[in-house]
Amino acid sequence: MTLLEVSGLHAHYGKSHVLHGVNLAIPDGAIVSLLGRNGSGRSTTLKTIMGLVRPSAGAVRLAGTELAARRPYDICRRGIGFVPEERLVFPNLTVEENLRMGIQPSPPGAHCWSIAEMYGYFPRLKERSSVRAGHLSGGEQQMLTICRSLLGNPRVLLIDEPTEGLAPQIVDVVMEVILDIGRRGVAVLLVEQKLTIALKVAAEVLVMGHGEIVFRGTPETLSDNPDVRRNWLEVA
Ligand SMILES: Nc1ncnc2c1ncn2[C@@H]1O[C@H](COP(=O)(O)OP(=O)(O)O)[C@@H](O)[C@H]1O
Ligand SMILES: [Mg+2]
Repeated sequence: MTLLEVSGLHAHYGKSHVLHGVNLAIPDGAIVSLLGRNGSGRSTTLKTIMGLVRPSAGAVRLAGTELAARRPYDICRRGIGFVPEERLVFPNLTVEENLRMGIQPSPPGAHCWSIAEMYGYFPRLKERSSVRAGHLSGGEQQMLTICRSLLGNPRVLLIDEPTEGLAPQIVDVVMEVILDIGRRGVAVLLVEQKLTIALKVAAEVLVMGHGEIVFRGTPETLSDNPDVRRNWLEVA
């Protein structure tokens, strides 16, 4: 079943037309990677789904409910979580207080995430639970942002370049956490620059070019398609 459906989505920044009719569908519980070169419109797609950029045309439906004209808070409350590229923590609150800020009821029948599980994923956050988030390293802030979003019990989580700038050991942990999120039945739309990770975790991959989806397929079909990689992914 399709959980999140985006159709004919257009978005502008002022006069600049950035999304040119994006169509995508995220099945319930699936991990889908959204790939593309810098500037292709991946972050704008996530922000427009979240209502942070107002769509100029098109539909965003979560389990059939139209969300495109709603406010970001309402979209979040209805079950779409967002981990933006900029690690958004409350700098003056402690790690634990930041986590508590994220808690929202879970949908009926769904897994309900706990702070203890978050500390299980990232023991470093437990060690630093009473430290103000503004004093954390970039990697720790990234972990905290992921955990706070999960505690909102989203049905689908949009994650923008979670491994950017992280040390290799932490990259592997973040990848394992994303796989586990999928195993618990939460759908994920993942923007990930590292192709090996994007292909490893996803059931389906989408490639964006110039504000449109130019390829969709399995990780295997993308691996077997040098033209798509050359035309839309590799830096010329
Ligand atoms: N706030 C903004 N104001 C104006 N132009 C923007 C803004 N954010 C992004 N853009 C432009 O929109 C295009 C798509 O950007 P973005 O969605 O961030 O791409 P990606 O995440 O794939 O790198 C780029 O040309 C970028 O320069
Ligand atoms: Mg981006």
